[in-house]
Amino acid sequence: MCGITGYIGQQQVVPVLLGALQKLEYRGYDSAGIAVLNNGELLVRKAKGRLTVLEERLAHETIAGTLGIGHTRWATHGEPSDINSHPHTDVSGRIAVVHNGIIENYARLKEWLQARDVVFRSDTDTEVIAHLINYYYQTSPGGASGGLLAAVLEVLKRLEGSYAIAVVAGDFPDRLIAVRKDSPLIVGLGKGENLIASDVPALLAHTREVYFLEDREVAILYRDHVDLFTEQGEKILRAPSHVDWDVESAEKGGFAHFMLKEIHEQAKAFADTLRPRLKTIAQSSGSTADAEYDINFDEITLDASWATAPRIVITACGTAWHAAMVGKYAFEHFARIPVEVDIASEYRYRGPVFNRDDIFMVISQSGETADTLAAMRLAKKGGARILAITNVVGSTLSREADLVLYTWAGPEIAVASTKAFTTQLMCIYLLALKLGRLRSLVSGTDYQRYLVALARVSAQAEMVLGKKDMIQRFASRQFNKHKVFFMGRLFDYAVSLESALKLKEISYTHSEAFAAGELKHGPIALVDENTLVVAIATQHELFDKIASNIREVTSRGASSLVITWEGEKGFSPIADEVFTIPKTEDSLSPLLSIIPSQLFAYYCAVQRGNDPDKPRNLAKSVTVE
Ligand code: F6R
Repeated sequence: MCGITGYIGQQQVVPVLLGALQKLEYRGYDSAGIAVLNNGELLVRKAKGRLTVLEERLAHETIAGTLGIGHTRWATHGEPSDINSHPHTDVSGRIAVVHNGIIENYARLKEWLQARDVVFRSDTDTEVIAHLINYYYQTSPGGASGGLLAAVLEVLKRLEGSYAIAVVAGDFPDRLIAVRKDSPLIVGLGKGENLIASDVPALLAHTREVYFLEDREVAILYRDHVDLFTEQGEKILRAPSHVDWDVESAEKGGFAHFMLKEIHEQAKAFADTLRPRLKTIAQSSGSTADAEYDINFDEITLDASWATAPRIVITACGTAWHAAMVGKYAFEHFARIPVEVDIASEYRYRGPVFNRDDIFMVISQSGETADTLAAMRLAKKGGARILAITNVVGSTLSREADLVLYTWAGPEIAVASTKAFTTQLMCIYLLALKLGRLRSLVSGTDYQRYLVALARVSAQAEMVLGKKDMIQRFASRQFNKHKVFFMGRLFDYAVSLESALKLKEISYTHSEAFAAGELKHGPIALVDENTLVVAIATQHELFDKIASNIREVTSRGASSLVITWEGEKGFSPIADEVFTIPKTEDSLSPLLSIIPSQLFAYYCAVQRGNDPDKPRNLAKSVTVE
């Protein structure tokens, strides 16, 4: 996720762009940049670091101009650096581009351009766009007279992936071109000025009249009007929309809190994590079920040593450790590799025994957690090869690990982790299934069945979110409970751990998770009429066992909620409430079964008057021991 903006009008553009970028900085903050058209010449300024670094640099010079584009970056291709920051320009330096999204076929496009003597300066996927626009600008029918629009339309035919793009060119001081596919882009319509941004708040200082660009629509912004086109170049006529959100709620996309927004973003985050790795190798019809898939990680190579690794060791903290717990079940289930999961703060002090052939994984949203880094460094010193799963490109973890899988969840602002967790799970499942297949432990048919199931998870997450009112109502009745226990078995136990952490972090309710079979070995002594027990029940072979555990707690006065599959009737007679999630494979259930618990924690926190985005005593990134 990055933020892009652009302006054409009467005002000096630099303060306008910086003002918009401040509103977009939540979308990415590892670097920022602008390009301004000044007397037919493009002036590009960019800097690694927060927007303030760029602002300080710009404070020392005067850049005049009333047309420009800006970008705030959340690195995906290429580490955060001045060079990799946007805008990117073509070889002539006369075309500048900002981009939010991922160009999946950029490597092929880069080779194609390099074969035509184009020299690249950055490691980004975006730079191909600037060079391609120049290529078609110079060579398309009609040559330069074909214009910027014709060149952009040619380029769109070649791009695969997601993008919101803004383009300015020295030869066209009267226009700015913008286009989107699968990444948001809004056009703001002002008086004598028009602008674009990735999100509404960045426009509100200028206008409330907007076009929400649809996928593959192209906008040309002039000072006095805006034209919309299809990607075939046909003009589109439609009325603008009026935005009446206040600025604060607009920053959160209309949601009351970043946490709720991020819970909702999970459906898209699943798709973003999966899309670059799930390759369609055959397609007999348009339907997901008829496609044949494979998993391919462009960023890592799973050589033969992966298939023969004797053990996987995973370390992490907090929510990421819970993802590791799901990983334990997933790797053992699909690939039959023994997995040891360790809390990073424990691992570093217990004189761990590792073997050079082990696969050592570290999981961290931020990539900066002190204990996780220390555990990784210890393992590295001992000769282990490290695979990191992280959300932050350029983080310390990503720089020091041997191999990196990014979760592509986009920035997570709320302290309580939600979309980072579920995208960590998606990466784990992809790895586990691929290893299972490499080790011939998952048959070709089962592999396809699981991959089709993964491809459906994004839509299924939307369905769970569509029923959030039920969870809200449930939370409004239960938020004052003194104790909330989550229980489950296998994958459901791992989800229980994460559910209890979410609830305690933001609602400050005493909550714990138990492996359901452990209940009668002690924890059941705590159960009374002030207790709510949430049972996660998605493992068919253990339904009878978990049903017995539910009876054990309800007969001692506890209220109960069961989270289970749609169509499961067995729990209704024994539980106070049942919340169902769309059916997928039992072994993939954590991808969906955690969502109701995230919502429950969120609504309990709100009911108790807490700020779910900034829970007391907690920090987003724990960079000290
Ligand atoms: C829970 C939470 C923390 C983090 C933990 C590890 O909602 O946010 O428990 O999961 O501090 O952080 P990362 O993943 O950045 O290493």
